[in-house]
Amino acid sequence: MSTEKLQLYKCEVCGNTVQVILNGAGELVCCGQPMILQIPQRDKSETGEKHAPKLDFRENKKFVQVISHPMQSGHYIQFIEVYTKDKNELHLKYFKPDDIPEFDITYTKDDIEAIENCNIHGLWGENKND
Ligand SMILES: [Fe+2]
Repeated sequence: MSTEKLQLYKCEVCGNTVQVILNGAGELVCCGQPMILQIPQRDKSETGEKHAPKLDFRENKKFVQVISHPMQSGHYIQFIEVYTKDKNELHLKYFKPDDIPEFDITYTKDDIEAIENCNIHGLWGENKND
């Protein structure tokens, strides 16, 4: 089972989470068992807690943010990643409880993908209109 550039894998035993920088043919193993590929989930409801990262504008600044999600100890956004669709540029920002989960960017929406990771609910991608 080969890996692909920028895939995220998690160990279900210890929680180690790794990202593939350059792909290879081997299987990633941690704590004696294969690591699990993390597929970004998509928000379905329009109300309540949301996880999807959202590209937004304010005072001529462009940024990616996660709105309507707790930032408390025990439940918070751990990181946001922004990468170009060709996967040739990657930007990562970590957060801790009480931080504002925002990430300044210079891209337009057509250029990038964004994902975020919740410490409880895992990996989430942008909502698509398709
Ligand atoms: Fe969450």
